Amino acid sequence: MRIWHPYTHPTLDPAPVSIERAEGVWLYTPEGRRLMDAISSWWVTLHGHAQPRIAAAIAEQAKKLEQVIYAGFTHDKAEELAARLHDVLPHGLTHLFFSDDGSTAVEVALKMAAQFWRNQGQPEKARLIALEHAYHGDTAGAMSVSAASSFTAAFSDFLFPVLRAPSAYCFRCPVGKSRATCSIDCIEGLEQLLGRHAAKVAAVIVEPLLQGAGGMIVHPVEFLRRIRELTRAYNVLLIADEVLTGFGRCGRMFACEIAGIEPDIMCLSKGLTGGFLPLGATVCTDRVYESFCVPDRRHTFFHGHSYTGNPLACAAGVANLEIFRTEPVFERIRAIERVHREQLARFQCHPAVAETRMIGTVAAIELRAEDPGYLSELKPKLCSFFLERNVLLRPLGNVVYILPPYAITPEELRYVYDVIGESLESISSKNEGSSVVV
Ligand SMILES: Cc1ncc(COP(=O)(O)O)c(C=O)c1O
Repeated sequence: MRIWHPYTHPTLDPAPVSIERAEGVWLYTPEGRRLMDAISSWWVTLHGHAQPRIAAAIAEQAKKLEQVIYAGFTHDKAEELAARLHDVLPHGLTHLFFSDDGSTAVEVALKMAAQFWRNQGQPEKARLIALEHAYHGDTAGAMSVSAASSFTAAFSDFLFPVLRAPSAYCFRCPVGKSRATCSIDCIEGLEQLLGRHAAKVAAVIVEPLLQGAGGMIVHPVEFLRRIRELTRAYNVLLIADEVLTGFGRCGRMFACEIAGIEPDIMCLSKGLTGGFLPLGATVCTDRVYESFCVPDRRHTFFHGHSYTGNPLACAAGVANLEIFRTEPVFERIRAIERVHREQLARFQCHPAVAETRMIGTVAAIELRAEDPGYLSELKPKLCSFFLERNVLLRPLGNVVYILPPYAITPEELRYVYDVIGESLESISSKNEGSSVVV
């Protein structure tokens, strides 16, 4: 049996690198080579690989209770995780539904939003609004609310139709403004959609402040604030997909906090277990939850996964939040931010660079390319270049981004930038004499 790897072409991409063990930011191959993980292994590893406190919590839990059906049963670790999440989440988010990963946390949110309106006798409010450049996962519902792209093209016939609002992708401003003249006019697209369709719309779903897979696009804080105002004004739910942005990635525990907003529904995963085990959580307000409490079995939320609320994953989640409570995690985050700021300044005027951007621990360098987008030919070349220098970076097409575990030291992070710098020199020298298009 040959294994089929995700987002990997069977013949065009290189064979996978085998990893035997990991520690902190380092991945070790069986041959003893070490690679620096500068993207937190698809944005999940939060504090560092093999973080001893999380590893111990999982081992301890495995000896006690590894799994129990979550319909009609519960256990201490799920209860403790829910209580601890409540302490760190916006306070209006009071109820939690477990699932398996980011995509299922999103599926749950979409279904919850649609059924919320049906429960109240408004089944016609079932449509969704999503942003251009969005990415919410790879299951059918999550793909439907993601932007149409090379990820979804093969499946377009069975995805449900979604209303699309412009994203505040300032570098490629959808309304043709410059940063100097920006007054968040791109929000008018959403306003018009709501004005026309709100009576049929269940929810607006957004990746708050940072659209990840769409190209590490950083939105102005005001854009998110306006989305919250508009969804309130038009009586439509707001779903914040914090699968990537949660747990400090954007510099605060949740990106919504930065904008001072509370969504009606929030999706969590990735960093939820510190990056150790798959777990999703969809949290919602009393208002959403209470619509399911009518004494009528048809109001039941008919959704669940075999591993819902898995005790090992919940134990990892509790240990993760205990690290936030007892260690200077936000000092580590601030140190990463400082290096990002200092190093991005180096690249701003580089001829191969179209734009640099950052938010919290996430930094991105959008490169000039003749074929911008995920399928840019720059991507495989850069991946090999970085790997040859023992750095794991996986550009989103022509966007190189750095999203390290919080254990990274300033020296290690500067090394990542040095390697990126070398790669830009190599691109520039190859491009000399040929036209470079943004
Ligand atoms: C914002 C966002 N939502 C959802 C997902 C899907 O998460 P998963 O890959 O765990 O299904 C991702 C994955 O990158 C994401 O970035």
